[in-house]
Amino acid sequence: MEGNSRPIGVFDSGVGGLTVVAKLRMLLPHEDIIYVGDTKRNPYGTRTPAEILEYTRDILRFMTEQKVKVVAIGCNTVTAVAYDTVVKEVDYPLIGMSRGLKTAQQISATQKIAVFATPLTISNHSHRKVAAAMDGHIEIVEQSCPALANLIERGVLDGPEIRGPLQQYTEPVLRSGADTAIFGCTHFPFIQPLFEEFCGDSIAFVDPAHEMALETLDVLKKDGLLNPNKENGYLRLCFTAEKERGAHLAEHLIPANEFTTEEITLI
Ligand code: DGL
Repeated sequence: MEGNSRPIGVFDSGVGGLTVVAKLRMLLPHEDIIYVGDTKRNPYGTRTPAEILEYTRDILRFMTEQKVKVVAIGCNTVTAVAYDTVVKEVDYPLIGMSRGLKTAQQISATQKIAVFATPLTISNHSHRKVAAAMDGHIEIVEQSCPALANLIERGVLDGPEIRGPLQQYTEPVLRSGADTAIFGCTHFPFIQPLFEEFCGDSIAFVDPAHEMALETLDVLKKDGLLNPNKENGYLRLCFTAEKERGAHLAEHLIPANEFTTEEITLI
């Protein structure tokens, strides 16, 4: 297979990275994409760093076998915990999940920016570290959301079961005076309407998937790896368990006739 006609790999602990895939398909419609959602071991955000590292290596081994030309990590938790280690172990470009801070910095009047993320991403202070390395002074308000990714993964996108925790997580952020909030977990854009309902007009939300798609485009261009194909690329969704559940949630973002679904075993 020619270098540039090889697929792009994208992965996450489950369905969250599909929010990145949807943006990639818009920006790079001619690219083939192989997606891995580790639905068997989801959620990642409440596991240990050692477990995340092991699971990431399992997925990257699969990606290598698929002869991908680049892998975009559609997961903040993996990026925060494992990226620095695994980037040295693969021979293709590996793009960590974008933090969305460039966009947030542009739209925030107060430069007080909230981040909603998994406990592991928050305990790593991943967004704070990136913000500290940027020009200007950004204050990051960190908000851990332990219950959300698992509920979204199970298809709970509204109702009391998810509204309860969401109210608990948005209240301190509303009190903090932040005017912009980043989805620091790729699952969360699935419930953007609920976040907006709880926060009213006082907070603007940033989905970093858009920045992530732009970064992937940049890497492909720079390395001369853009697919010259004139047709639309294929999208293979591979789940480690319950592929029907994965497909059902994917349909919230991508038309059903644009992807195929399969169950895989990672070894
Ligand atoms: N979607 C992932 C993230 O961006 C992980 C969610 C989870 O499995 O806890 O952090």
